[in-house]
Amino acid sequence: MTLQSAAPGTRTHAPGLVSHMGPADLEAQLRRDAKEGLTAPDKSIPSKWFYDYTGSMLFDEITRLPEYYLTRAERQILRERAADIVADTRADTMVELGCGLSEKTKLLLDAFKRRGDLKRFLPFDVDGEVLKMAATELLERYPDLQVQGIVGDFERHLEAVKVPGTSLVIFLGSTIGNLNEEQRGSLLAQLSGALKSGDSFLLGMDLVKEVGVIEAAYNDSAGISAAFNLNILSVLNARLNGNFEIGSFEHLARFNPDTEQMEMFLRSTRAQRVRLADLDLEVEFAEGELLHTEISAKFRREGIEQELVSAGLEPRRWWTDAGTNFALSLSSKL
Ligand code: SAH
Ligand code: TRP
Repeated sequence: MTLQSAAPGTRTHAPGLVSHMGPADLEAQLRRDAKEGLTAPDKSIPSKWFYDYTGSMLFDEITRLPEYYLTRAERQILRERAADIVADTRADTMVELGCGLSEKTKLLLDAFKRRGDLKRFLPFDVDGEVLKMAATELLERYPDLQVQGIVGDFERHLEAVKVPGTSLVIFLGSTIGNLNEEQRGSLLAQLSGALKSGDSFLLGMDLVKEVGVIEAAYNDSAGISAAFNLNILSVLNARLNGNFEIGSFEHLARFNPDTEQMEMFLRSTRAQRVRLADLDLEVEFAEGELLHTEISAKFRREGIEQELVSAGLEPRRWWTDAGTNFALSLSSKL
């Protein structure tokens, strides 16, 4: 791994589990994103900023909700196919983008353990805290594996992830759906550029299905999706010295049939003015005004395979769960 030399501002915490691609850089990015998104006519904030410690723990709760079928469906595929996936690659290194707690990833690591030749696991996430938890647990469970977490933004810091030998990059949880088509194109192209011939890429994605099923997954009855969505305001308060009143916004999640994506917003329940002191910025919200926080695109096989091909990848395998809710696609770098 040549992370250290690849990006300016990069440093490694000597014996630690986690290296930072550039904490100052991430902070600057949050400021730019917040300023740009909150001063635009249609207000928005990129969803990567959901994930501080609280956000990551709320997402972990989401994965266990009865309505949130995505995680269970993906786990079912991994349980059935982990051995096939591992047999299909000669990887000695696995990289996981947006790893979170790497919970389902253990199914792959167990399969690799049976095969006996995975040397390294590099979990990559924008939230350093969740990364440290994941890396610590995995080191205990797989003492022979080198585990090195990387804190960074997979939209911007991918080219710095250079892996010796052969790698399998995994990107689970339909996190790819949180990027729009242009962002997906850019990420897949960067990823493809970072891979070597013979490397592979495993992508997990949620499929187009009955609207009611999809919408329920983002409007759970326990209110965890709402708490998760609202947490982005707490992140802005904490990191930019803001005074968002969380109780004056409400969660809104609806499916857009034209774009086949879920769209998440926070709706201001009254006219209000919010101050973000670190940006020296005052933001006015009208009653009912929407702050757009997230999309979650739902996929069809032809569409995503076309996107993979356009990025220079060769999709070779496609697996779904029994209910055809979710899919895993395995590609090779040509
Ligand atoms: N892979 C896990 C977690 C999915 S939640 C699962 O399948 O359950 C999405 C994860 O991606 C979060 O841990 C979040 O912190 C991370 N993430 C989101 N945007 C990111 C970005 N731009 N760069 C790096 N990590 C990101
Ligand atoms: N990556 C998750 C998804 O697209 C994010 C998510 C789940 C989410 N539930 C949410 C985002 C509720 C906002 C609100 O499924």
